[in-house]
Order: sequence, then structure tokens, then C-alpha cells
Amino acid sequence: MAKNIAVIGTGYVGLVSSVGLSDFGNYVTAVDVNPEIVEKLNRGIPTIYELGLEDYLRRNLESGRLEFTADIDRAIRNAEIVFLAVGTPQSENGEADLSQVEQAVGSVAKNLNGFKVVVCKSTVPVGTNRWVKGRLSELTGESAEGPDPAFAVVSNPEFLREGKAVQDFFHPDRLVLGYEAPKAREYMEDVYRALNLIHVPMVWCGLETAELIKYASNAFLATKITFINQMATLAEAAGADIHVIAHSMGMDGRISPKFLHPGPGFGGSCFPKDTRALVSTGDSYGVDMSLVREVISANEHMKGLVVNRLLKMAGGAGALKGKVAAVLGLAFKAETDDIRESPAITIVQRLLDEGAEVQVHDPEALDNFKKLFGDEIRYFEHEFDALKGADALLIATEWNEYRNLDLERAKAEMRGNLIMDARNVLEPEKARSFGFAYKGVGR
Ligand code: NAD
Ligand code: UGA
Repeated sequence: MAKNIAVIGTGYVGLVSSVGLSDFGNYVTAVDVNPEIVEKLNRGIPTIYELGLEDYLRRNLESGRLEFTADIDRAIRNAEIVFLAVGTPQSENGEADLSQVEQAVGSVAKNLNGFKVVVCKSTVPVGTNRWVKGRLSELTGESAEGPDPAFAVVSNPEFLREGKAVQDFFHPDRLVLGYEAPKAREYMEDVYRALNLIHVPMVWCGLETAELIKYASNAFLATKITFINQMATLAEAAGADIHVIAHSMGMDGRISPKFLHPGPGFGGSCFPKDTRALVSTGDSYGVDMSLVREVISANEHMKGLVVNRLLKMAGGAGALKGKVAAVLGLAFKAETDDIRESPAITIVQRLLDEGAEVQVHDPEALDNFKKLFGDEIRYFEHEFDALKGADALLIATEWNEYRNLDLERAKAEMRGNLIMDARNVLEPEKARSFGFAYKGVGR
């Protein structure tokens, strides 16, 4: 049976989940503390760039099953299930900052007017859901134990990727559901009935296991990327081709070809913070997560490496001083406007530190980048305008439109002929045939 749901937080996860859960036939009231976000969403205007989101948003608003509000108390009081989709950013010491979760739990406690399942979708360190359970008991005097609990807690980590969030929400590889109370499981089966019907595997497990599945998955993927990035550096030094290496490795079913694309290092709102949080969690249990620690540091090194390569092409240290460097791609990956921990931030800062004038283009992330760099750099809506008069070009994000870059025009617009392709989106031979001095990653 359809459920009444409150979703707290309407960022990437909260918004996509709200739209998806209402599309499954549930009644969803999504809450955000930011009234501007609420107002825009109620008018059917997505506050993030995500393929297909607008159609789903409008369709479900029109159906009457979805609304957005800043009134968290009303949303929780009317809900049988409360999804927490608030941010869990990195705090100064590397741990996850759980203040938004704590605040949301306070609101649930204040409005616990009958049985509710509190579902944590935010990525939270192992032990957090048990803490939520204890905290709710403490604040309300109610118990989550026994055959007739006053509330229940479920850990339901989210695995969606930005840029493919809608597709991932509707067709996940699996759902992970950590729970204790049988009643909570019944409720969650109702919520996700639409996915059960298309045979999406459901992993029912304990709270701690669910929490660690999330961190283990992200850390593993981050490790895989870092591994191929280091192999790319070695391949380059040894005159081998990382694409052929990665492709052949991926033919082994045990390895799989996914997440073997070399680049300027992983970024985004999750891999960097989740790997650091996992190291902190390890520390708090007296377990040295040395491999993950190494991944973090190797990834930082990688971001600087692409600028070093460009410098070397330009003639060594100081060679970019007073020169114009164009950067194509600012988002941490294609198909998103998100620049959180984007390698492009480190790259642009390094270029500025080297004394270069920087001109940038990105199809979606220009506005976000402006908030960070202000008038330190020049922004362009069209890639060829960013290339005008440039001595060097660095491609930092693998947007499709860069794959088919008109190299003849690029050559005509640029003053110099250097290309550092940190995403391997161009064909090396083709780029060279247009007179460019071209370098990719690992080939
Ligand atoms: P986000 O920062 O984009 O969004 C969080 C939203 O919550 C913001 O809009 C904020 O205004 C709102 N908020 C904060 N406190 C609130 C409160 N008390 N009441 C109502 N609204 C409140 O975050 P996100 O990227 O959607 O990530 C959310 C969580 O999901 C994080 O734990 C993240 O690690 C995890 N996650 C993110 C992704 C992703 O692709 N972004 C994927 C999987 C998991
Ligand atoms: C990642 C995970 O893929 C999601 O499953 C997870 O839900 C999410 O984190 C999260 O926890 O928030 P996301 O950060 O959106 O999703 O993006 P990815 O596609 O995983 O890319 C992350 C970074 O790795 C990007 O900077 C990307 O360019 C880089 N990457 C990815 C590579 O350099 N090479 C690859 O082969 C794949």
C-alpha cells in the first residue's frame, strides 16, 4: 500500500528520492530549510541539473502526490515514514559532520505522533543509525524495541551517481536495507514495491552492515580509479597505452571494465569525503585503513600531476607565467553542474599560482565556479571563446561536446598549440595532425 512519506533535505539525493518515491505511488512531502529551493521546486523548476529530472518533477507535482515545504513539523506529523536526506559533509578533522542529521532527528522527536519509520538515506558512519535510535528514545521517552515499537530506524544508503541520478534511482543494482523491527521491513517493502516488481535485489541486513556497505562501495570504487590512474602514469612512462590495458583488464569478469577510466583524479561530493570519513572511522575502532589512506593521498597527487605535465610541455617551471591557459570542463565529471571537490578547482588554482591567465568554459557549472573564483579568471559560455588567444588548453571534464571538438577551429582560435587532455577525450593522432602538441593521460 502507498505510504505517506516525508523527505528531509532536497539536495541531489533528497530531490531525486522525493520525485522517485512519489512516482512509485507514495505521497511525498519534501522539506528543505532553504525557502528559495522550496519555492522553485513547487513551481516545477529543478534546483540541480540532472537528466530527466524536470519531467518527473512536473509529472508528480501535477499528480498531487508530491509537494515541497519548509514546514518540517507538518511534514513529519503527516508521515508514516521519514527519509533523512540531509548533507553529511566532511568536518575539519576528516570525520563526517552529522549536525544536519542531528537537527533532523530533533525534528522527528518533536513530531513523533504515532509509529514512524525513520530511514537514513544520507551517508553516515557506522553506528549512526543506532545513535539515531537511542537519541529518539532519549528525546521522546518512547521505545523502538519489542513487538509494538513506537518508532523504527532503517539504514537505506543511496548509491545513485550524479548525472545519472534519475536512471540510477529507478534502476538500482540493489537496495540495501538495514533494519531490526519486522514492522519496519513491511513498511519498506511497500515503499519500494515498484522496484521489487522489477526484481531489483534487496539486501536485508543489520544497521551497521548497511552503513558499512555504503562506505566500502565508495572506497572500493575510489581505489579502483586511483589504481588505474597510477597505472596510467606508469604506462605513459613506459610507452604503453592505458586504454588497451584497461580494456583488456576489464575483459576479466572478476575485474569488470567499469571505473577504469584514467583522469585527473576523482572528485565530487562523495568519494573524497567518504574515503576520509572511513579512515576516521577506522581510527576510532583502532583499525588502520592504510590502503584507503594511500588512495586519498595518491588522488591528491594526481590532480597536480596534470598541471605538471602541461608545464613540462610548455618548457618547465615558470613557463606559463603571463601565458593564457584555457580550461574546458569545470564540473567534477560530465552531466552535472556540481563542482564540489572537482579536480578543476585544484587545476585552475595551480595555473593561477603559476602566473597564467585562465579562461574557462563548462556547459553547466560556470555559475558554481564563479562563486568560487569570482573575477580571478574569465568565464565563457562557448568553448571557442574560452580558447581565443590561449597558449595552452587543458581539458578537465569529459563533456561529450569536447569529444567532437572542431580542432581546426580550436587551432585557429588559439595562439599556442599545447593540449593537455586530462580525460583522454580527443584522439591523439588526430589532434597532432592539426598541429597540436598533445598529451593525454597514460598513452
Ligand atoms: P546536498 O548538500 O545537496 O543536500 C542536502 C539538503 O538538505 C540541502 O538542500 C539542505 O538545505 C537540506 N537540509 C539540511 N538540513 C536540513 C533540515 N534540518 N531540514 C531540511 N532540510 C535540510 O546533499 P546531497 O548531495 O543530496 O547528499 C545528501 C546525503 O546523501 C549525503 O550524506 C551524501 O553523502 C549522500 N549521497 C549523496 C549522493 C550524491 O550523488 N550527491 C549519492 C549518494 C549518497
Ligand atoms: C559516486 C558513486 O559512483 C555512487 O554510487 C555514490 O552513490 C555516490 O558517489 C555517492 O555516494 O555520493 P558520483 O560521485 O556522483 O557517484 O560520481 P562517479 O561517477 O562515481 O564519479 C566520481 C569521480 O570519479 C568523478 O570525479 C569521476 O570523474 C571520477 N571517475 C569515475 C574517474 O576518474 N574514472 C572512472 O572510471 C570513474
